[in-house]
Amino acid sequence: MSAAVPTGQPHHVLPTVTTDPVVVAAIAADLDAAGFTVERVDALWGAEAAASLHRGTRVAALRALAARDTSPLTTLATLFVLGLPVARSDVERAFPTAGLDGVLAAGLLRTGDDGRVFPTVDLRPYAFVDDLGAGSWWIVSDLGELALGTALGEEHVLGIGGASTTLSGLQVPVRVRRVLDLGTGCGIQALHARRFADQVVATDISQRALDIARFNAALNGVDGIELRLGSLFEPVAGERFDRIVSNPPFVITPRREGVPSYEYRDGGMVGDALVE
Ligand SMILES: C[S@@+](CC[C@H](N)C(=O)[O-])C[C@H]1O[C@@H](n2cnc3c(N)ncnc32)[C@H](O)[C@@H]1O
Repeated sequence: MSAAVPTGQPHHVLPTVTTDPVVVAAIAADLDAAGFTVERVDALWGAEAAASLHRGTRVAALRALAARDTSPLTTLATLFVLGLPVARSDVERAFPTAGLDGVLAAGLLRTGDDGRVFPTVDLRPYAFVDDLGAGSWWIVSDLGELALGTALGEEHVLGIGGASTTLSGLQVPVRVRRVLDLGTGCGIQALHARRFADQVVATDISQRALDIARFNAALNGVDGIELRLGSLFEPVAGERFDRIVSNPPFVITPRREGVPSYEYRDGGMVGDALVE
């Protein structure tokens, strides 16, 4: 590996993630060609390293990667799953279709002062099985604390967590016309909902979440998801839905001076107000 040295992210930057259809299709083609799947990434560093990544340590994964040649798959996993910088030439090899400039323009990468290329988002494969069969997507979210080496920003967009997969597993697999996903975040519930709905409206108070959800839908070739900015039912006032799915913020932030108002938590509400 050319760059598997834990450096952390030098500073916290959140470029806008943009969804140019040509660039997004090119990125998807490169991820596909590299074999960026859950199975292949797990096999890259092995079950033990994968388990220790879940516990928030990447030492075992780095050790496993150090023993391997640099392939597009190791580059993608190092950048987007481990959140570490890699050499420019490695990124160019990993994105032959989109090109480094295309991925930079999409807001997924940035170049560091030392010439290396840093991830600006987390991007990882996700696999699932539902009543329609097995499926897989690539999901962009914001880099976690491990990659950033610092506390999360107030605009942080969460990736897929335990509560996300619990809710996605509870979505009713019965075909309906319209579903509302309230508080869509990276868009994972909306993507699942769309498999059983003609149309999905996904809302969030975070513009960054909507940008990322839009990118994820495009990256995975999923249409029919309409994204709307706003709090609770404001963006859908007067409309009716056959089903509503929501994984609302459930970690309550104390409203005290000096404590940030995280959008992915309660967006500034007090106590249990949001869930209420
Ligand atoms: C726990 S995340 C869930 C994300 C995603 N739906 C999932 O299942 O992983 C909660 C989301 O709700 C959003 N949110 C917070 N307050 C909100 C509000 N008042 N109205 C709509 N969305 C809100 C946050 O920005 C965040 O994206």
